Amino acid sequence: MSVPPTTGRLQWTDVPTILRARLEDALGSPVTDTVTPSGGFGHQLAAALTLADGTRAFVKAAPDGDPLTDANVYEAAVLDALPPGVPAPELLGIHRAADWTAVVIAHLDGPHPDLSPASGDAEQTWVLLDRIASRPAPVPYTVAVSTRPSTTAALHGWDELLADPPADLAPAARDHLPQLAELEVAWPALAHGDRIVHGDLRADNMVRDHHLGVTFVDWAHATTGPACIDAASLAPQLILAGHTPADIARLLRDHPATASSPDTTTAFLAALTGHWHCNARQPEPPGAPGLRVYQHRAAAAGLALLGYRLG
Ligand SMILES: Nc1ncnc2c1ncn2[C@@H]1O[C@H](COP(=O)(O)OP(=O)(O)OP(=O)(O)O)[C@@H](O)[C@H]1O
Ligand SMILES: [Mg+2]
Repeated sequence: MSVPPTTGRLQWTDVPTILRARLEDALGSPVTDTVTPSGGFGHQLAAALTLADGTRAFVKAAPDGDPLTDANVYEAAVLDALPPGVPAPELLGIHRAADWTAVVIAHLDGPHPDLSPASGDAEQTWVLLDRIASRPAPVPYTVAVSTRPSTTAALHGWDELLADPPADLAPAARDHLPQLAELEVAWPALAHGDRIVHGDLRADNMVRDHHLGVTFVDWAHATTGPACIDAASLAPQLILAGHTPADIARLLRDHPATASSPDTTTAFLAALTGHWHCNARQPEPPGAPGLRVYQHRAAAAGLALLGYRLG
């Protein structure tokens, strides 16, 4: 029995029959069940398939005119190039038919990690980030991500808010608007670096696999950059999960990935928070229910953190 998506996602039955047959051939067994996991705002198929032989696989698919197809193919190349030791699922294959493209990824079994203070998952995630950010990315990875401009480096939003401040802008943001815009302007020049960057770390882009532990999924925004980016991205997510901004500000000050580059960390946090504040005010795009509500909450968390870092 199939579980209907909780998001505006395409479903397994939307995939052309010929591509479904091709996938079943490649996987060696017919699909008996599909589940669309909760999490994320994308509209493409992102489903766990159960096969008649009892095995499972994860598939992302979209029609070829859809920009998410390019994102899925890019993610496949990244998964293929990640070095051992990076917590990511294995790429199983890419299949094309009837003007659709499907990327097949090893299935991870488990829930999203619990990033609240009550759980050990946040601590495990910090340790993983330290490991990933502590050494330069290997050449195959750098080559794989060189095919797309970094979405992380392009983050901004305070410039638009400064030009036309909305009446409901949080007082803490209004008070610091010129400083936030200045930090954001400095960000692109600081965004270069040789480390692996996931670029979109949220609880719903991680699975706590029963065997592998916390594992990062959704590598479509992966890039190279300074060591601090993923730790700094995770920080507002921890506040959303119930940690106090004061605790997270302290962790960020002391974490090996962020401690040595406070200015880069602050500039990145400013650009990310500006992006959230600005985009939260846009109309909700089709197929992404909940995106703007999330961005409003994330914007507040980012601003709370910046309150500890602005002079
Ligand atoms: N390999 C996997 N095994 C099991 N579940 C997975 C796997 N990869 C992702 N998921 C689950 O599916 C959801 C959607 O996957 P993913 O985040 O890759 O899709 P997406 O459409 O790119 O997301 P977004 O909307 O964040 O851009 C994730 O939130 C996670 O719960
Ligand atoms: Mg996702």
